[in-house]
Amino acid sequence: MDEITKIVQQALEEIQNCENSSELNSVRVKYLGKKGIVTSLMKKLKELAPEERPIFGAAVNKAKNELLKKINEKLDELSQREKEKKYAAMAVDVTLPGARKDIGHFHILTQIQKELEDIFISMGFSVVEGPEVEDTWHNFDALNTPEWHPARDVQDSFYFTDKILLRTHTSPVQIRTMLNTQPPIAIISPGRVYRRDYDATHLPMFTQMEGLFVDKNVTVKHLKYCLEEMVTRVFGKDAKIRLKPSFFPFTEPSFEVDVWFGNDWLEILGAGMVDPNVFKSVGYDPEIWSGFAFGLGLERIAMVKYGIKDIRDFIRNDVKFLENY
Ligand code: DAH
Repeated sequence: MDEITKIVQQALEEIQNCENSSELNSVRVKYLGKKGIVTSLMKKLKELAPEERPIFGAAVNKAKNELLKKINEKLDELSQREKEKKYAAMAVDVTLPGARKDIGHFHILTQIQKELEDIFISMGFSVVEGPEVEDTWHNFDALNTPEWHPARDVQDSFYFTDKILLRTHTSPVQIRTMLNTQPPIAIISPGRVYRRDYDATHLPMFTQMEGLFVDKNVTVKHLKYCLEEMVTRVFGKDAKIRLKPSFFPFTEPSFEVDVWFGNDWLEILGAGMVDPNVFKSVGYDPEIWSGFAFGLGLERIAMVKYGIKDIRDFIRNDVKFLENY
């Protein structure tokens, strides 16, 4: 009986010292396995007097049950501890600063384009697009631009053939729109245009936005109102415009429009009242219909608004420049 007590004591100590479930399993096998120490005690029953056997047997069973109970308790404790360890290793520190990703933003010209689109859309205009590869009829003839006009010269434009070229302005979209719609018309048309030019203020490819408004009894007042609305929303409440007489083949009268911004008059666009010859070329009766048109350079607007001196900055893809806007 003393031996049983000793064995139990020893086993309890070993159970207590187990660090993990596999150590605990070894202890269980050592004492309670088929050839385990406690299991083997049963074999001693035969050596005992018959009246001692039940007492000894009961003591061994009691020892066995006690150890089993302790082992199970310890197993619970250890697996709980192991779970905690595992979860601690998986834990995320939500107070750490995140891994920041630069997601970029729209190019300055795209921003200006969207800004202008929003302004004109709010005045009831819709946005239309036209092809960058044009024919000379849409790009020039229909816009009352005669054969002798310098813009038609191969020196100034990019021709594929005698009759096909990269559009030199967005004005042909006026023609395309009027040919497939009836007035009233209120459209703007942003897009790329191409000319044989390259210096600090000219690029061979740049961006324009055309505007066309056609209805009955349209006057310069309507043109001026729309441009003032646009300019004060782009450049601020204090911005003013002035119209200077100018010439474009497709408008009569024609204007150059300056904006008062940063203590200076700066030219930002061309405009005018649609020339009757343009209406005739799309089959509109100029006695019934009247309209205004304008064309502005998006780079020019951005340069004036942000004081950008070199138009080539827009296409250099210098991140330091682009990040400023
Ligand atoms: N197409 C002209 C250019 O590229 C700009 C322009 C001027 C457009 C007057 C117009 C306009 O619609 O009415 O220089």
